[in-house]
Amino acid sequence: MVFIVNRFNKKVSRKNTNCVKWDLLEDEILPFSIADSDYATAAAIVKCLTERARHPVFGYTYPDDEYFDSIIRWTKRRYGYDIVKDNIIPANGVVGSLYYAIKFLKDNVDGVIIQTPVYNPFYSVILNNNVKIIENPLINNDNYYTINFALLAQQIDHKKIILLCNPHNPTGRVFRYDELKKIVELAKKHDVFILSDEIHCDIMLNNNKFTSLNTFSDMYNKIMVFNSVSKSFNLAGLKTSNIIIKDVDIANDFQLFLKSNFFSYGNLFGLTALKAAYNYAEEWLDLQNKHLSNNYELLKKYFNTNYPKVGVTKQEATYLAWLDLSFLGIPCHKMQEELLQLGIMVNDGKRYSQHCNGFIRFNFACSKEQLQKGLNIMGTFIDSYTK
Ligand SMILES: Cc1ncc(COP(=O)(O)O)c(C=O)c1O
Repeated sequence: MVFIVNRFNKKVSRKNTNCVKWDLLEDEILPFSIADSDYATAAAIVKCLTERARHPVFGYTYPDDEYFDSIIRWTKRRYGYDIVKDNIIPANGVVGSLYYAIKFLKDNVDGVIIQTPVYNPFYSVILNNNVKIIENPLINNDNYYTINFALLAQQIDHKKIILLCNPHNPTGRVFRYDELKKIVELAKKHDVFILSDEIHCDIMLNNNKFTSLNTFSDMYNKIMVFNSVSKSFNLAGLKTSNIIIKDVDIANDFQLFLKSNFFSYGNLFGLTALKAAYNYAEEWLDLQNKHLSNNYELLKKYFNTNYPKVGVTKQEATYLAWLDLSFLGIPCHKMQEELLQLGIMVNDGKRYSQHCNGFIRFNFACSKEQLQKGLNIMGTFIDSYTK
């Protein structure tokens, strides 16, 4: 067991691999930024990709029955709901899919509601469709974020879409069944679509349980779920994701719309990797989640013990910590610049909400050793203002 968990502590150099996170920074900088992981994916996935790469023709491809069956089995096994092939639309990325979903629906819509702070491309997929952003800021109660239902009830009407991020990036929340049910009830009352970005749904920390919005499909049909193997199995470079819509008529119409916009499904290697991940890498995923839970505990303990004024969110999912450093009174861009000078790259909290000017997002999907180095630099940075 210890041996297996150690694979996540093994150093893999990502330099000179066309890696956005490492290659676009100076050599000596350690990145804790963009959301992918700094350890190898499951050996079973590498094996299937290598086998496919041995065939020397890489022509046009398609998602075969085994592709759909792999998703159907995974969804049932991990999340307990049933789907059929007609519910699944293979796609080449979650952000692009969200953009097209808003485009598909926007004739009847004047605004999209988002729970902020939130993953920054949410703002662009709305604005690039010329639709209004309606911020429904999360309530921060002692670094635990919850939905402001009273405000949501005021904001919603039949001309809105709810764009939900669950698990939530950057706050690490996993919305509970009762919270999701309330959202679905409100959506149903006003007959609006809910787009649920569930890309982080496999990365559950400390045995938290995930509820997909598709669980509510008997109650309400205007639900679209977006997920992917990219975060779960560190495959983001393969640009392969899925849209799952339980209402077959909506699924058909949306698929036709995507086709008419030449929005295609994932590539040959992405399709191969998904099958390998869902069929042969489940144990790897569970071990990764254990490693990430340990890393989160290390991070939390580091700040709680040495710098208790740093707000660390209660992390239920994802490997992205959301740190409140507002007690330092420094704007995010300055924190980011100074941390870069000290040797680490983090994400500026203002990207996720204009109101989060004292926050940073810190990716802890790396080895324990790398994490400790990053934390020590965070400590040096905080000391430079407080000692
Ligand atoms: C919530 C969320 N959605 C979507 C994405 C990106 O998805 P894709 O690369 O499939 O467009 C990310 C990546 O960090 C994310 O955190």
